[in-house]
Amino acid sequence: MRRRRRSGTPEGSAFRGKVAVVTGAGSGIGRALADALAGHGARLAIADWDRSGLEETARLIETAGGEVLASRVDVSDRAAVAAFAREVVARFGVVHQVYNNAGIAGGGTTVAHTGYEAFERVLGVNLWGVIHGTKEFLPHLIASGDGHVVNVSSLNGFLAQPGLAPYVTSKFGVRGFTEALRTEMLAEGLPVAVTVVHPGGVRTNIARSAYGPGGADIPAEHLERVRVYEERLFRTPAEEAARLILAAVARKRGRVLIAQAAAVDRLVRLFPESYPRLVVTWGRRLFGSW
Ligand SMILES: NC(=O)c1ccc[n+]([C@@H]2O[C@H](COP(=O)([O-])OP(=O)(O)OC[C@H]3O[C@@H](n4cnc5c(N)ncnc54)[C@H](O)[C@@H]3O)[C@@H](O)[C@H]2O)c1
Repeated sequence: MRRRRRSGTPEGSAFRGKVAVVTGAGSGIGRALADALAGHGARLAIADWDRSGLEETARLIETAGGEVLASRVDVSDRAAVAAFAREVVARFGVVHQVYNNAGIAGGGTTVAHTGYEAFERVLGVNLWGVIHGTKEFLPHLIASGDGHVVNVSSLNGFLAQPGLAPYVTSKFGVRGFTEALRTEMLAEGLPVAVTVVHPGGVRTNIARSAYGPGGADIPAEHLERVRVYEERLFRTPAEEAARLILAAVARKRGRVLIAQAAAVDRLVRLFPESYPRLVVTWGRRLFGSW
């Protein structure tokens, strides 16, 4: 069955015929982005370290008549991302848009009790993955004459929470890195738009994926926390998140706030020093602990 193209819309013209790279496309927001981009007539290069999720997304796109290159890549591995960039250029000859979306949760305990390995693992995927994806594709985006970098941060890119230090550190970092890049593209007059995405509360596997495939190894003391995230906080469908991201990309917006992120952004701006007290109070109410 061939997909009904959505490229007749004004938004569609930002994507029709464009080569778009999406990391973390095997699940959640990444899969929804890849599917929506293909629906708008983009040619896709998708990456994920989870082979079965990646293959499922590729199948979805191909079944609907889209064009896709799927590659198993660990975004924390600089050489692997560099090889992926070469593979994409060899296949399509040009790259217009990169969505650095792959990410993992991680945390669950305090800074004092979190080992260095946990910081390295989360920063490796969430921050270094974004840096690798940006740097390896940037020359090609500039060469395209109409490039766009879209980096996925989080509401934890401006709001800290207890028990999430590796994640919060990585997502604040993604925001800083992306905004710095944006200033450079503007200062140098280079043809690359830059967008940072701050999702909050999107219904995906992120809360459980930190604990092995499908959340197989969630420790008993973290079960309640995962349940609260999935049943009470993650309300927005991934397809809606993808729609909002692509609408912002089509308008070359610098920043996208999704679901709870908009209210949280206002809270942090109003109470930049005292918001942590509110976070602790709400955390106790929601999770029954910090
Ligand atoms: N769901 C939310 O409410 C929410 C909120 C804030 C931020 N985010 C961010 O959105 C992005 C997408 O997450 P999601 O919610 O769709 O979660 P998800 O777990 O459904 O999807 C993440 C995908 O990234 C892949 N991935 C993880 N590590 C990888 C690696 N090293 N190399 C390649 N692929 C890797 C996973 O296999 C998975 O397919 C993440 O960066 C996440 O931090 C999500």
